[in-house]
Amino acid sequence: MYTEEKQKNTNYGSIFVYCFFSFVFVGGMITYAKPYYNLQNLMDTETVIEERLLDMEKSGVLPCDLRSSVSGAARNHHKLSTTVREETRTRPPISYCVKFESFATMSKLVTGNGDKYESRPFSAGGYNWTFLIYPNANKPAGSGGYVSLYVKIDNSSLITTQNEVYAWIKFLTYKSTTDTYHELHATEAQRFHLFKQQYGMLNFLEIGYYQNAAYGFIFNGGQSVFGVDIVVSKPSGTWEDVSYEENIRDPVLDWRITNFSIRDQVSYTSDTFSSGGRNWVLKVYPNGVGSATGNSLSLYLLSASNQKGYVKAKFRVINQTPSNNVEKQVDGWPNAKENGWGVDKLIPLADIKDPSKGFLVKDTIRFQVEILAFSKTNSISN
Ligand SMILES: *[C@@H]1O[C@H](CO)[C@@H](O)[C@H](O)[C@H]1NC(C)=O
Ligand SMILES: *[C@@H]1O[C@H](CO)[C@@H](O)[C@H](O)[C@H]1NC(C)=O
Ligand SMILES: *[C@@H]1O[C@H](CO)[C@@H](O)[C@H](O)[C@H]1NC(C)=O
Repeated sequence: MYTEEKQKNTNYGSIFVYCFFSFVFVGGMITYAKPYYNLQNLMDTETVIEERLLDMEKSGVLPCDLRSSVSGAARNHHKLSTTVREETRTRPPISYCVKFESFATMSKLVTGNGDKYESRPFSAGGYNWTFLIYPNANKPAGSGGYVSLYVKIDNSSLITTQNEVYAWIKFLTYKSTTDTYHELHATEAQRFHLFKQQYGMLNFLEIGYYQNAAYGFIFNGGQSVFGVDIVVSKPSGTWEDVSYEENIRDPVLDWRITNFSIRDQVSYTSDTFSSGGRNWVLKVYPNGVGSATGNSLSLYLLSASNQKGYVKAKFRVINQTPSNNVEKQVDGWPNAKENGWGVDKLIPLADIKDPSKGFLVKDTIRFQVEILAFSKTNSISN
């Protein structure tokens, strides 16, 4: 007994020692793994960017004026991060792509052109655009040590139409080491108009990433690729104006069917009625339809011009004795097959056939549909 206890104690001791060393070992791994992890996730966090920039500074890769811009740039990045999203994707840019055979040469060449490269015009979403790439530090002003990317809308169409254009813009650059695109985009669509013809990101990516092939953004001896997605959210050329008509002219449609008991078709359709400036027809299934088949009469209101809006209407079978009418209200969007509004089970067939009920008199049945309201949809063209 005692020996066994002691044995157990010893075991707990070794388990503790084992765990302790495992912990130290794993901890050590994490410590050693961290720099590698950072290298693989260069742009994932602000801290990482700072760390990399500091490393590069030490190695003298970046221009010397960067010391001041590092912290500023990091703050900008942080500030933007609420509305700017960073992604990695394999899908190439959808609107336009620019490949430089040499990022370094391009950076020098553009100094004679306001430090920007402006692409040829391209079309996206029905507008012409150009893509602007600023490869040099502090161009445009305030960009610090970052490459800045912009899109500019061709203003000729804005001048003629006076339109505003909303577009989702995504900026991309190719990363050869992972064969993916690094993407930055604002979460909101951007508004372009005559007084705001361009939009961009001042701090797209640190220039340093294009100065060392190890990061993957320059490859094949200095090439680099930039791209843009422009998805125009066009206030569509036509739109619907939906209004609600309540004071309907000639709201009541009256329909009599004679020789009712010898009607042997599945359904009958009325002549056209005009109500509220719109044409309608009524359709009856004397023997019911759907779940009403064989037990109740079904009655529907259809728009003769195939409108599909909201309708509020009362459906009645008139009691001709007179006594209480049967009345049911429809209130909503088309609920019946063939674009109509109606009541599947308006009145039981037994009540129609029972002469004492007063719904079928001289073999004639009377329906009334009173249209109380309907939605009106006008198409408006810009
Ligand atoms: C886009 O540019 C082309 C070629 O210059 C021109 O024909 C076209 O009208 C332009 N489109 C718009 C929407 O400005
Ligand atoms: C339209 O764009 C051209 C070329 O960028 C520019 O020269 C011109 O001033 C712009 N016009 C207006 C009204 O903004
Ligand atoms: C009703 O039926 C009778 C005979 O079945 C016929 O003479 C009469 O014309 C019909 N009336 C109508 C309005 O269809």
